[in-house]
Amino acid sequence: MADVFILGIESSCDETAAAVVRSGEHMESNVVLSQFATHQPYGGVVPELASREHLRGIVPVVRRALEEARQSYKSIDAIAVTQGPGLAGALLVGVTYAKALAFSLEKPLIAVNHLEGHIHAVLLEERQRGNRDFPFPVLALVVSGGHTHLYLANQKAHATNSFSWTYKNVGRTRDDAAGEAYDKVAKLLGLGYPGGPIIDRLAKHGNSKAVKFIPAQIKGKDRNAPAHDGEAFIDFSFSGIKTAVLRYVELNDMKKTCEDRQGKLAHNPKPSLEDVLALCDKKTLDLVASFQRAVVDDLVGKTLKAAEQFNASTLFITGGVAANSELRARFEQQAGQEGLRVYFPSRPLSTDNAAMIAAAAYPKFLAGDFADPEFSAEASLPLGR
Ligand code: KG4
Ligand code: ZN
Repeated sequence: MADVFILGIESSCDETAAAVVRSGEHMESNVVLSQFATHQPYGGVVPELASREHLRGIVPVVRRALEEARQSYKSIDAIAVTQGPGLAGALLVGVTYAKALAFSLEKPLIAVNHLEGHIHAVLLEERQRGNRDFPFPVLALVVSGGHTHLYLANQKAHATNSFSWTYKNVGRTRDDAAGEAYDKVAKLLGLGYPGGPIIDRLAKHGNSKAVKFIPAQIKGKDRNAPAHDGEAFIDFSFSGIKTAVLRYVELNDMKKTCEDRQGKLAHNPKPSLEDVLALCDKKTLDLVASFQRAVVDDLVGKTLKAAEQFNASTLFITGGVAANSELRARFEQQAGQEGLRVYFPSRPLSTDNAAMIAAAAYPKFLAGDFADPEFSAEASLPLGR
């Protein structure tokens, strides 16, 4: 079959991204314009500002992705765009632009679920390495700033190709996503935004056993309640640990140092690790390391429990938090002990990007699964059933 070039567009949160992927397995370009500097002063993503920045960035980002792939508007075979989930206004920029492009170029348009995109980030890179065999079912943990979801994936019956998968949601957070906890704790400690990467690096300098966090307990009546078909559902919860960190900061009179640190870092948009370390005492580093250990323990423990429960043979760990070094090391070690194969995307493909959107669109292209011209962005678009 001839090569298929798909232009992917992603604008669900605070990254304006475009990429060209050839036949679902060769990344020809991958351009990501981060809005980090816009949101950093607020310690989190401001939805209105995100939409404005997407509007500014989308045309040059798409142009660059085409140029780097040595493609043109005319030469690509299809356009893929993130339909949701994400910020409504941000999604709308990508969807409207992709629709206009597809209409004017008379090219097929493919709507992609952002979460399926994260799963395809793993598949794209594995296919690129020549690995096309994954023992099913695959259990995928999508862990990011907006999600902490577990999906059981299987190959679609009568699929036109081996990468048409079905998904069943078998676990999710009851409150905050894990990445959200990282970002909120970093904001609380005056460490800037986004919190994940800096906490990841600082944690190596603290004692992770110094502060004891009680593992998240959800005592609600539906904890591990059977899902509609009688199977258990895995609950995550990360809002409790964020409150526990806040309480620790208050009880240990750390508030003033956190505010001072935040003030100093506000004047330094790209601080080095040394800059931040110089502003952190031992107590703060121990707290950061203990927080990370508690989150990683929870993610690894519950995912492995789910793998056993659902007889999964393969693990995919993906989404922004999958970039975390401790999470990767722990999964590799513990999944290996249990005879499970575990796959991660490379770090650049763990966080939001459009290559994963173009890759997820390829099986849909082969199946002729194109978007209705009337389709719209969906902020809470679910994946699977
Ligand atoms: O997938 P992503 O780019 O966007 C969403 O779909 O949410 O994930 C962003 C999230 C942020 O919460 C960020 O703090 C977190 O991923 N993150 C990390 C790391 N790098 C990014 N969390 C922990 N460790 C990291 N190294
Ligand atoms: Zn994401």
